[in-house]
Formats: sequence, C-alpha cells, structure tokens
Amino acid sequence: MERLQKVIAHAGIASRRKAEELILNGRVKVNGELIRELGVKVSSKDRVEVDDVPIYQEEPVYFVFYKPRGVISAVSDDKGRKVVVDYFTDVPERIYPVGRLDYDTSGLLLLTNDGEFAQRLTHPKHEVDKVYVAKLKGVADQKNLYPLTKGMRIDGHRVAPARYEILSTDLKAQNSIVALTIHEGRNHQVKNMFQAVGLPVQKLKREKYGDLTLAGLRPGEFRQLNKKEVASLLSQSK
Ligand code: URA
Repeated sequence: MERLQKVIAHAGIASRRKAEELILNGRVKVNGELIRELGVKVSSKDRVEVDDVPIYQEEPVYFVFYKPRGVISAVSDDKGRKVVVDYFTDVPERIYPVGRLDYDTSGLLLLTNDGEFAQRLTHPKHEVDKVYVAKLKGVADQKNLYPLTKGMRIDGHRVAPARYEILSTDLKAQNSIVALTIHEGRNHQVKNMFQAVGLPVQKLKREKYGDLTLAGLRPGEFRQLNKKEVASLLSQSK
C-alpha cells in the first residue's frame, strides 16, 4: 500500500506536493469515491482517478542510459528529431529523462517514470555531483581554470564552485581534455563555465552521476538500476 499522493506522483501527473493539492481540492477519486484528505493509502488494485481520468499505476522503474550525441533529452520533438525514449521502445512504462543533456552532449542520462525521484534529483537544493569530461579549445592550466573553483556569475546567476582535473593538454593542437565536477544543472552550465574562462567546449560527455557510471554501456545502450542504486542516488540527493 502506498500513500495516494505518492501514487499520483509516480504516475508522472504531478509532484508529490501538487498531488496533495489535487487531493485537497477534491479532484481525486479512489474506487469512485471522492477523497479530500491526505493519508489515504491505496494498492495497485485500487482505481485512482484524477479529474475523472483513471491513472495507470505503473511500478516505478529507473534506467541509466548512455545518450549518444545528436539525440534530444525529451519524450517527443516537434521537429521530428530523435529523442531518448526512442531507444526504449521495448519498455512499456511511460518513462522520461531526469533533467537533460544538450543535443550535442553524450553520456549518462537517467530515465524513470517516478516523478518524485525525478523532482528530487533535479531540484537545485539537492546536490548530486555530476562529472563531465570536456574537450576544450585552448590549453587549460591551473591559472585559467582557477575561477571555476571559486564560483562565478553566469547570465546573472551565481554558480557554485566546481572541481576540475586536467586530463591532457595538446600544445600543438591547442586543445585540452578536462573533467569538471558540478552539482547544479543549469542550462548549458558546463559549456558556459568553460566559455567564461576562455576555453570553449568542443565536445562534452557526462561520465558520472552521483556514484553511477557508464560502465558496461555503449552509446545508445541502457540498463535498469537496482534498488540499491536507486536508494544510493536518493541518499546522495539530500
Ligand atoms: N552542461 C552543458 O553545458 N551541457 C550539458 O548537456 C550538460 C551540462
């Protein structure tokens, strides 16, 4: 048995808080009966309706996906471009990406049908470290990367201090490979941070999300997370 608001949130209809509002506003029925108070528990056998539309109670599922470049982090695209869920045609659950990676960024993307999990991990307050590996135009060194470690202002927002590791530099080709660890997820954040220190990103890949890696996956492949991995991500997003 699960709390009603959690079941509604899991169905991807609303966050847990919004689901509570739906209940308190008299928009939710269980087995045909209007529910107006919080605390009611339901099982998968109960018929739950929001605004008289039955919700489909799916088991929560969680995937780690190696997103290739050239794919949109969405469930559909009005321009008909390839989207991440196109790789999951054999998965019956209605999953969606947790946050997003740019079209031209590859790497680790989580997908789930658990709205609460997705909200928790993408909420700016809940800080999960993510590691990106970037190929940069220009030669990175401690001096030009220093502002990244201090926090900086980008587009009027303050971004938190990040950690970096210079993996290689090529003086002849004038480029570098740098790993950057951040815990926020603003749009184009990594690209904007490197751009701000004069090292434009040529290629970007997310290699780690919390303690999860892409080990064993090739671009376009995914695997389901087990309970321990899900619990570990949640415990890191405190
Ligand atoms: N930062 C970026 O600039 N792009 C991404 O896809 C992810 C983080």
